[in-house]
Amino acid sequence: MSITRRGFLESAVVASLATGLNAQDKNKTPQPSPPTSSAKQPIIICSNNGRNYLDDAFLFLRNGGDTLDAALRVVKGPEDDPNDDSVGLGGLPNEEGVVELDACCMHGPTRRAGSVGGVRNIKNVSLVAKAVMEHTGHVMLVGEGAERFAVAVGFPRENLLTDRSRKVWLLWKENHSTDDWWGPGMSGPQWKPPTTPPQSELWKERIQRVEERAAQLGIEPEFRAAAIRRVLSPPTGTIHCSALNDKGEMSACTTTSGLAFKLPGRCGDSPIIGAGCYTDQDVGSAGATGSGEENIKVAGAHTIVENMRRGMSPQEAGMDALKRIVRNYNNDMNKLKFMDMTYYILRKDGAYAGVSLWEGYSDTSVHKIAIHDGTRRSQQTVALFKGVSHEFPPFPVTIPPELKEDSVYLK
Ligand code: GLY
Repeated sequence: MSITRRGFLESAVVASLATGLNAQDKNKTPQPSPPTSSAKQPIIICSNNGRNYLDDAFLFLRNGGDTLDAALRVVKGPEDDPNDDSVGLGGLPNEEGVVELDACCMHGPTRRAGSVGGVRNIKNVSLVAKAVMEHTGHVMLVGEGAERFAVAVGFPRENLLTDRSRKVWLLWKENHSTDDWWGPGMSGPQWKPPTTPPQSELWKERIQRVEERAAQLGIEPEFRAAAIRRVLSPPTGTIHCSALNDKGEMSACTTTSGLAFKLPGRCGDSPIIGAGCYTDQDVGSAGATGSGEENIKVAGAHTIVENMRRGMSPQEAGMDALKRIVRNYNNDMNKLKFMDMTYYILRKDGAYAGVSLWEGYSDTSVHKIAIHDGTRRSQQTVALFKGVSHEFPPFPVTIPPELKEDSVYLK
């Protein structure tokens, strides 16, 4: 019996989801609202991979720094970090092994925006998005034109593919065999849920083979579990940050290396103004991490800000956007269990919320929003569905403690 990579992965994901999904069908309604709002100003919120950079940015904002510059200080940290493979230097590459980055920003006080998509060889694309906003009459530049613009305004060209990300890509390339991102996705009518028995022996054998190959490629033992997870379930790691100062000015940015091993030229939601990021300082700001394709279809960040304009709380506004994703799949849990989305929402009075489709990737890796309003902290997001989008790895490998919870590797 043969099994495709995608079918194989799906069967494993089904297995890992089994427990959570039993509960999910009974839990399709939002949970009651926890107290996620502080309504303090100034305040910065971000996805949890920006947490370590909040102190510096908050100090800058409190001392009168511009709101967009404060948000950019947060996201520049992971962009510069070669060990964060979700963004900037060391980001996981496309299917050809080339890192392509997306970013956008909005400056509330001047009501301007900038964006870049599919940029190669330039590390700080969030700053390039700002440069598009400041130095051109355009809003969005993509591909080679964006790269040439970045070089023209002074950004250095550099190799963004770290040895570690190259090895993970090679592992994916060697493993993926017949299946990749080509072919219809889950939104296509042809897509069928996996039928392979969840606890298939093939799954265990496959993981064992990938693990052996990871060792042969020289992937460090402590990173091996995370590398295998990336190969079998390519991530869409991203960082978003929104900032509000004590004058009521707001700005935001989102930056990413996008979906790992994507088709060259694929842009996700992160560079799309209104999907991955949207700010209207009369109302609020929102940003997203997660399934870019799904978020584009509901214009998530814009939808949330408009919901708040009509009077919804940050949490209600975010839940409504998540429900639009659910509606796009006619509540089909056989499809929705394979996707995830997290929104980070900040209202103009400082009230905020973090909401997500699922509680996390696993029991030990829950979705979180990081906040700094004088006190830096992380809070678990409020999930539309109980349970996890998938739980990995469902095989007998001990994940080192540093790869759990707040690890940059599991974002
Ligand atoms: N949300 C990031 C992406 O899909 O590229």
